[in-house]
Formats: sequence, structure tokens, C-alpha cells
Amino acid sequence: MVLRLLEESTFLRSLFENVSDAILVVDKDGTVTGANAAFEKMTGWSAAEVIGHGELCDICRGVATCSEESTCVECFSKKSSVSSFEMQVRTRDGKEIPVVASSTRLPEIGHGALVLILRDMSEQQRAQRERHQRQLTRNVIEAQEAERKRISRDLHDGIGQALFSIMVGLKVVNQLDLDPAMREHLDEVQKLTAKTLDEVKNMSVQLRPSALDDLGLVPAVRSYAKGYQHTFGIRAQVEVQGKGRRYRSEVETAVYRIYQEAMINVAKYAQTEEVIVRLHDTGDLLELIVEDRGVGFDPENIRVQGTGLGLFGMRERADLIGGKVDLISVPGKGTTVRVTVPVQEEEASV
Ligand SMILES: Nc1ncnc2c1ncn2[C@@H]1O[C@H](COP(=O)(O)OP(=O)(O)OP(=O)(O)O)[C@@H](O)[C@H]1O
Ligand SMILES: [Mg+2]
Repeated sequence: MVLRLLEESTFLRSLFENVSDAILVVDKDGTVTGANAAFEKMTGWSAAEVIGHGELCDICRGVATCSEESTCVECFSKKSSVSSFEMQVRTRDGKEIPVVASSTRLPEIGHGALVLILRDMSEQQRAQRERHQRQLTRNVIEAQEAERKRISRDLHDGIGQALFSIMVGLKVVNQLDLDPAMREHLDEVQKLTAKTLDEVKNMSVQLRPSALDDLGLVPAVRSYAKGYQHTFGIRAQVEVQGKGRRYRSEVETAVYRIYQEAMINVAKYAQTEEVIVRLHDTGDLLELIVEDRGVGFDPENIRVQGTGLGLFGMRERADLIGGKVDLISVPGKGTTVRVTVPVQEEEASV
């Protein structure tokens, strides 16, 4: 019998000291009478510092409710037991950490001691906030792409088609027997209409090229390089290795936008006459490289010349599709932007 009791108390002490949840015992007046090793680890307060000296209210920063982070209304210590609630605990170095707690009243010990079991939720809350943030970013990007697609199609099919009809009409009129002054005027209007149509088509492609949706990443990359060469006078050489296949729409969009941003950066800052684009598909990895031998910059100390969101946006887009962006730049030597995205064989071909 004596041995059983001894075993039981050893077991309970061992349990108290070794569980991963923090345990705090307070007497009926709120003075701390016990704290285990997990409590010391979680809060930084040693048991010796709090037992007999600390008050529950010194450590507790209140109970979280739906509307407030923490409040002392309806304090759990006034109730006999509460199975699960959220509260904030003050650590020794003044931080406040969120915990999930349960409180149990033990009537036969010290006229009603209260045992609090606390589980640190900081890591879970941080992970949840991160997941929420990523979902928000994903939603914003999706909404932006959908809107760009809609405006691009409207421009192409609406204003673009109307301008084309006007051009055909002007051509017909120009075939009539007109006096020279009138013909000269009409030629001007025709030229202006053709230029406006080009601009509208260009805007439509810039917003979202239909090639990306209809034909996929490789044709869209090639087609952009062609237009880029024409617009900026920078030779854009595209080298493709591997199958020219389709990828998930979000992968195609993200890689295309990263490519576009890297190419625009070359045009704006690199001061070069040539850019090399490499698209490489190894079967389970898609790699896109944009390389210039221009002025380069120090990636550790970027002197932002525009709004400075481009590189950040590239990383964010890559991250959302499970990929990553590597940036190598050396002043005087040039810049290489490399995006890699894991892709699966079966996800790809359409
Ligand atoms: N290919 C490049 N060659 C030389 N400098 C570059 C190149 N790419 C980026 N940089 C430098 O890095 C800085 C940051 O680029 P980032 O794309 O993040 O911002 P930005 O182009 O300045 O603005 P935003 O992209 O938001 O319009 C640029 O301001 C520029 O100084
Ligand atoms: Mg930029």
C-alpha cells in the first residue's frame, strides 16, 4: 500500500515536470503555489521566482474574446472549471503570448486550488496569419489577372474591331474620285487610325496576351520578345530547351509576369543592346532565365530607381506557385534573374 502511494506520487511529480504543456497552480487567493518546467520554458519565469511571490494577475493578461484580444471580464478564476479558453500570458521579458488554456478547481487541495494548463499558440497563430496572408495575395493576383483579361479582350474585340471597320471604310472612300486636298486629308486620317489601332492592340497584349491563354507560355514568351525588340530596340534572344508544353494556368501567368518584369527592368536600367532568355523544362522543373550583360547592381544594396516593387512582386508570385527567384547581379557585369518552378509531367500537357 505504502509502495503504491509512493509510486503514484512519483508518477504524478514526473508527469507534472515532464508534460509539454505549462502547468500553473494558484491558491484560492490567486497566489502562485506551483509551476512546472514547461511553464518556466514558456514564460521565462523560474518556479522559485513565482511560487509564493507571484500573483495570477501578474502573469495573466486577460482572456481573449471574439471582439477583443484580451479582457478581464468574466475571469476564469472565479469559476470552478473552464474546459477551454484563450488567454494572453505575460513573459518575463515583457512579451505577451497567446495560449489555449483550461482551468480546473481542486476543492480538496488548499481549500480550492486552481490548476491552469497552458499551451503556447504563437507558432500556430503565426502560421495561420501567414496562410491567411498568402490566400489574400493569391485572391488579389487572381482578381487582377481576371480584370486584365476582361479589359484586354474588350479592347481587342470592341475598340479594336471598330477601328478596323473604320479603316476599311476610309479605304473605300479613298478609292473614290476625290480632289487632291481631300485625298491628302484622308491619307492623314487613315494613318492616324492605323496608328491608334496598333496602340490599342499593343495595350491589349500588354494587359494580357491572348497567346498566353490560347497557346501557352513558350509562344507567349517568344511573342513578347518580338514586340520588345521592336519597342525598345534591344535584341531579345529566346532559347527553349525541352518540350513546349502547357502548364497550370497560374504557373503560366506567374512565370510570364516575372519574365515581363525582368525584361522591363533590363530595358529601364541595364543599358544594354541584348538580353538572353532561356526557358528550360527538365520534366519536373521549369526554369526561366533572363540574362543581360548590362550595368548590373549590388543586390545587397539596391538603389531603387522606380517604385521598387518589381523584385518583391517576382518573389511573391513565385512563392505562390511553390517556386523561387534567384537574382545574381554584379555591378559592371550584368544581371541574371532565374525563376524555377516545380512542375509535374501529368499536370502539364493540355
Ligand atoms: N536588369 C537590371 N539592370 C540594372 N539594374 C537593375 C536591373 N533590374 C533591377 N535593377 C535595379 O534594381 C532596382 C529594383 O528593381 P525593381 O524591379 O524591384 O524596382 P523598380 O523597377 O525600380 O520599380 P518597379 O518595378 O516597381 O516599377 C531598380 O530600381 C534598379 O536600380
Ligand atoms: Mg522593376
